[in-house]
Formats: sequence, C-alpha cells, structure tokens
Amino acid sequence: MRTDDAPLIRLEDYRPSDWLIDTVDLDISLHPQKTRVRALIALRPNPEGQPGAPLTLDGDELALKALSLDGKPLDASAFTVTPQALTIPAPPPHDFTLTIETEVDPSANTKLMGLYRSSKVYCTQCEADGFRRITYFLDRPDVMSVYTVRLEAAKAEAPVLLSNGNLVATGEMPGSDRHFAVWHDPHPKPAYLFALVGGALDHVRQDYVTADGQKVELAVYVEPGKAGRAGWALDSLVRCMRWDEKVFGRNYDLDVFNVVAVSDFNMGAMENKGLNIFNDKYVLADPQTATDGDYAAIEAIIAHEYFHNWTGNRITCRDWFQLCLKEGLTVFRDQEFSSDERSRPVKRIADVRTLRSTQFSEDAGPLAHPVRPRAYKEINNFYTPTVYEKGAEVIRMLKVMIGDDAFRRGMDLYFERCDGTAATIEEFLACFAESSGQDLAHFARWYEQAGTPTITASGRYDAAAKRYTLDLKQSTPPTPGQAEKLPVVLPIRLGLVGALGDLPLQTSSNAYAGDGLVVLDDAALSITFEEVTEAPTPSLMRGFSAPARLDLDLPDAALLRLFSTDSDAFNRWQSLQTIAVRALVAAGKPGSNQQALAATAGALGAAFDGFLKTDALADPAFAAQVLRLPSPADIAREIGRDVDPDAVFAAHRSLSAAIGEALLGNLPGLRAALATTGPYRPDAASAGRRALRNELLGLAALAEPAEGARLCEEQFAAADNLTDRLAALAAMTLVPGARREALIDRFAEAYAGEPLVLDKWLMAQALIPESETLERVKRLMQHPAFSLGNPNRVRALIGGFAANLTQFNRADGEGYGFVSDIVIALDRSNPQVASRLLGSFKSWRMLEPGRRRLAQEALGTVARTPNLSRDVADIAERALA
Ligand code: ARG
Ligand code: ZN
Repeated sequence: MRTDDAPLIRLEDYRPSDWLIDTVDLDISLHPQKTRVRALIALRPNPEGQPGAPLTLDGDELALKALSLDGKPLDASAFTVTPQALTIPAPPPHDFTLTIETEVDPSANTKLMGLYRSSKVYCTQCEADGFRRITYFLDRPDVMSVYTVRLEAAKAEAPVLLSNGNLVATGEMPGSDRHFAVWHDPHPKPAYLFALVGGALDHVRQDYVTADGQKVELAVYVEPGKAGRAGWALDSLVRCMRWDEKVFGRNYDLDVFNVVAVSDFNMGAMENKGLNIFNDKYVLADPQTATDGDYAAIEAIIAHEYFHNWTGNRITCRDWFQLCLKEGLTVFRDQEFSSDERSRPVKRIADVRTLRSTQFSEDAGPLAHPVRPRAYKEINNFYTPTVYEKGAEVIRMLKVMIGDDAFRRGMDLYFERCDGTAATIEEFLACFAESSGQDLAHFARWYEQAGTPTITASGRYDAAAKRYTLDLKQSTPPTPGQAEKLPVVLPIRLGLVGALGDLPLQTSSNAYAGDGLVVLDDAALSITFEEVTEAPTPSLMRGFSAPARLDLDLPDAALLRLFSTDSDAFNRWQSLQTIAVRALVAAGKPGSNQQALAATAGALGAAFDGFLKTDALADPAFAAQVLRLPSPADIAREIGRDVDPDAVFAAHRSLSAAIGEALLGNLPGLRAALATTGPYRPDAASAGRRALRNELLGLAALAEPAEGARLCEEQFAAADNLTDRLAALAAMTLVPGARREALIDRFAEAYAGEPLVLDKWLMAQALIPESETLERVKRLMQHPAFSLGNPNRVRALIGGFAANLTQFNRADGEGYGFVSDIVIALDRSNPQVASRLLGSFKSWRMLEPGRRRLAQEALGTVARTPNLSRDVADIAERALA
C-alpha cells in the first residue's frame, strides 16, 4: 500500500470502542501450514460507546472459515468479510458471542508478526497489531479480555505448549499423535499481549517466592542443546524480580513466568503476560559465545520485559499514542536496575552515548517526532529512540523535579489508581502532580514538542562582590510539523567548582530549587550566586540532568580542571569529551585547520596519560569510557550541515592515532596490570578491566599498526572468552592487510555453527572504514552464515554497513544504492525489518550537497517502488518530506 492511500491516525480522533470483549476462548490446532484457530469471543456494548453501532473486527491477511453468533452459523447476508475486516452491520443490541474460525499458515509468515515458525518453533508477536493476523478481533489496547487458550499440536513436533497465565490442563488426544495444553490468564489484557509457543525446547527452571509469599515457577526455554546458555537470563530474572519488589514495591502475580528464546525476531523482546518471547540474542550467553556487552544487554532486557508486567501489562496504554507511557517508563526502570547492579556513572555515560547517537540524530532529522506523537500511518515505525530513550529521560527529569519521595509516592498512586486499566499520559502525570503538589502542566510539554533543546550558558565572576552570575538561554530548532518551539522545563543540576572542590551555593533566585538544581523553564534566565569566594568553573548538567545540548564556552584548561576535580563523575567524563568534540568539529569541517587538532591531541594525550598512571585502575570501566572518543557519527551530527563524512573520519582517525601514540609507553604495563586472572566471570568489575584493556588495544592498533596487529593475534590466541577475542578482531579490522584477513578467517572457523557470534563477525567487517568494504559486504551476503530471511543477520551485515559513516555515505552513492535495493527486496518478505533499515537514511539532510542529492535519489527510488508496504512507504515519505 502507498502511504498516500493509508489513513493518518490522529490522537485527537480517539474514541472509546463501541464494543468490548470480556472473554476470549481460543482453540488453536497447530500445524506448520494449516493452523486452525477457533475463537469464541464474548461481546458487550461499551456503555461509553455509540449505542447500536456496527461491529467491525480487525483482520490482516486472514481467511475466514466459519462464523457463528451465539452458537448459530451466521447467515452470509448478516456480515461482510475481507482479509482486513469482518463487519456485522446490525449486531444484536446486547451481549452476544461470536465463534470465528480462521486458518493461518505459520510457515509462510515471513513478516514475523502474528503466528509464525522460527527454526521449527511456533511463536507469536502481536504488538502492535499482530493479533489480527491470527483471528478477527478488536485489536486495540483499550479492549481488555480474559483469555483461555487451548493449544493442540503433534507431540513430536511441539512437546512444549505455552501460552499466557497459568497452566490448567494437559492431555493426550486419544488415537492420534497429538496432545494439548490449556492455559488461563486471569488478568484482563489487550490482544497485543497474547502469546503462544509450541516446539521442542529445552529449559532451565527455578522456584521463586515473591515478597508476599507467592510461589512462582520461573523457566527459560531455548532451542534444544542450548540450555547451558540460559542460566544468565534466569539469574538476571531472579535479580530483577527482587529489585522490583524492593525499589517499586511490585510483586509478580501469576504461578509461572516463562521466557522463550527464538532465533527469528523483529525486535529485541516482547512482554506478553507471563510468557515473554525474546530474540535469542538477548537470552543466550556463555563465555565462549557472548561478550560482556551481551551479558549486560541480556540482564537489561530481561529486566525491561519483566518490569513491563506492571508498567505495560497491569497498566497498559489506552491507544498507541501513549506508547511512551509503558516504554519510556520501563526503559527508565531497567536503566535504574542496571545502575544498581553495576556502576551508576558508567551506566549513565553509556546510556547518554546511546541517547545522543540514536535519539539526538533522530530529533535532528526528518523523522523527528514528539515523545507522544500526534499522528501516525504505521505505528510500528514509532518504536523509536524518541519514544523509548527520550521517553525515559522525561521520567528521569520528572524524578529530579519532584524529588525521590514524591516520585515514589506518585508511582504508588499510579499503580493503585490505574491498575487494570488502559491509561494515558495525563492520568500518569496527574499522580505526580498530586504526590508532589507541583503543577506539571508546563513539564508535560516534553511529551508534545519534538527536537533537542540547546542550553546556551555563560558565566561572569565579580571578584569584588564575590558574585557569580550564570546566564542561561534555551532554544529548540524546528522539526517537521513544528516550526515554532516553546521553552521546555529544563532541570539543570550544577555545581561551582573551586580549587578544592564544590563551593557552597547561595542564591535568592527562585529558579534555584536547592540541592544544586536550577530549573530553566523560560527562554532565558540569569541566576546570581553570592559569597562565591573564588573564580569558579561551572559544572552544568551534572549526571546529564536533561536531554539537551549544552553550549558553554569553557577553555580547555577549565575543562581539564573539571576532569580532575569535579565531584560529578558524568561531568568528569563529559569534560574530556567536550574537548574532543570541539576539536573534531573544527577539524572535520572542510578546509579546516589541522594544527588545532594537534594541540588537542597533545592536551588529551597528556590528560589520559596522567589519568591512566594515577587512578585508572581504581575504576577501569569508567576509564574505558574516558578513553573512548565520541564517534565520527557524533561529530557529524554536531557539525550538523554540509557534512563531509570523509573529512570527519580523517580528523577522528588522526586524533585517535595521536592519542594512541601518546599512550604507547604506558600500554604494555597497563595491559598486563588489567589482565583478569582465573576463569571468565561476567561481573561488572571484570568486564570493566576487559573494557579498558581492549580500549587500549584499539588505540595501539591505530598508533602502531604492526605491533597492534601482533597484540591482536596474541590476544585472540590466548583469550578464553568471546569478549577478548572479538575485541582482538575489532582492533585488527583497523589494520589493513593479510594479517587482518587471516584473523577474520580464523574467527569464522572458530565460530562456525554459532550464528550469533558470526553476526558480530559480519558486523565487524561491515564497519571497516575502507572503500573495499561494499564489495566485501556483497561477498558476505553469499556466505552460508548470512540470510536475508533472518532479522539478526540483516541487522548485523546490512545494518552494520548502513552504520558505517564513510562507506554508507560513499561519495559515489553506491552505499545508498546498495542499501535501498536491499530495502526494496526485503520489503516483500519483512516490512518491519526493511523499514528499520531504511531509517538509516534519517540523517541525509545534514550531508554536503553531492551526497545529499545521491541519498535523496536513493530514497526517491524506494518511494516510487510499486506495492510498498505501509511501513517502508511511511519512512520514505517522511524522510523525503
Ligand atoms: N514492547 C516491546 C518492548 O519491550 C517491543 C515490541 C515492539 N514490536 C513491534 N513489532 N513493534 O519494547
Ligand atoms: Zn518495552
């Protein structure tokens, strides 16, 4: 469908459903090609809807086999049916039931929405609107029903049969090779939380007793033979369940909680009630096949999906415009969990890196949209960094604004008041307005206004009067559909740093909320601090207190001072990043001055060197973050217009190499001191040591390629874990030549038969910043490890290439042509994965004119392709608008 034909769905058009469905009895007989679905649904007129309204049930590519009303076959004249809708124009004006029989083909379902088969396992993905691909239904989140599900399948094919809720019966089908299981979920839920799984799966299990004494059976199901890799996910589950009890007072509410890993999955994972289904990439882990990063991601996503049980399932969304109500809040909750389990500052730094690279870039381009969008054509295109990550930042700011106690009381009130409902952002915010006594009307603008605000700050010190005045301004650039921007509420955590640390803050300004918090909610603000006994260095936006850019012109010397004296770890990290960004932005512009870059390299090199000699070993994870420069893509975004990716990359490369050179003397000793002893352990401290050690390896490879290559070979051979082996491969990709190719081949041999590891191998190659990479990627598409049918493979190789700043943005446009051709081909089988990939073009408008024209042409080619999915057509249309 062309999007011109697709209706625009608007928040302001929301109306309650005319009909409700109280119960759903599903009887599903699984078969690889002909799965029969019988749905008995109990309908009731909604007192809040239109009396006497027709009934229209949603469908998607469905084939109706039979239909009865109150048990009697319905006359063909009483309804109309298409693959997309089943309509009863004149339904009875009272409660009635419908029995709907459909047949679906899970094996042919390459969209991976609805019921599909992934490596012989039946599974479902229903969010946002996949349930309508199983049966005709009121597929909207404000229609909540109690489900009873009977599953039947061949015993050999699907010995394991799972659905939501609690298991109530199992049995054999006499005289056949089939068996069945019946599941009942007592909690009313929207259809998007329905799930089933059937297959031959292994599992690990553990008993759990909730804080209120309820026994729960936990299990993680994986492909046969992989149970040895399921332990970390189970362990993470137990820890996050305890944490939610302790920190949010939330207990689990069913007898069982199951997690299932499947190998074909469009996204990361899905929070179906009592039956979370995961991309196996976010479940499977052992030291040989998962990196430290994978262990951390599994812990975070297991927690994310589990936390949805309350923020998402018990309280769901009234409509899809409220998506951030569950996603932003749940990301915030999983970030807090990881911060408590690991290092809070390091987690914050990592999250801010992600926010800047994914969300700031989205906000700066044609796909920018508010945290709560006002209109959409395809909701699946709004599972974005803005809804998720910026949505989480909004919650974090709310907590800063009202304080920890009022935040917790507001959450308690929300759970109490909205439990069992499909809620809105307004209802959510009302709880916090009540718990804090604050008026949150202005704060709510964060949900409506797109774009990243810039805070411009400058300070003046009056030594005679002992006064320090800070002038603050804010502005937000226009975004599509929002030309004029209004000021937002910006919580700015700050300190004034003197020679011996933070100076006391004294001011009579009512913008000062105490505790180092200034609230900028107007276009501009001047705030004067009294009794400032020495010229201070301002440390603003501590902990990254708002999702904004900060424009504060501090000299390098002041930033270096913050690095060594700031009490805020985030701003210590930020200070050196700022020095690097500033120099790289200057050097990355065409015709720029490379001399300044040499000076910065000297200053940063010396700072890193001193830091590594003194306190890097005390917190290696933090040190690794300090050493990691902003990426070339970050620099391109900061430049913001007429970007020449090659110039940006060259500046980045030369700064990195120069820093590497400055550190060379330190390297062998430090790498030796950081080596972990004993068998691999995934804990944060050990991971931090590996992270710093591997950061140094990368710098070595740039500074001294031959010696670096030798170190990579040595590390690859000696390593007992994937983290160190992959780091060796990644560092080696920076060194062109035969040794690199040999290590690439060795890696492939070592991990043949390990698709998730080979994904990393594919991606490492796709990211090589050399002009041969496009040919290499095309070659790798023929490799047996690659398949266009598997989303993880596509994201690794093609998504990896599209994230390669210089090669995707080749000056000849070949990178754009390659990716857009794949988008068009993939759209026929899997529109969601295709449209995500097309999102790689989101920054095309910031490029220099030549590349801009070529990117626009590639987007135009996609947009003009006949029979595009709504997913891809929507992205192409908005990207070009
Ligand atoms: N709700 C899932 C999560 O935990 C994401 C599912 C999105 N799926 C989709 N097809 N749009 O974030
Ligand atoms: Zn989520």
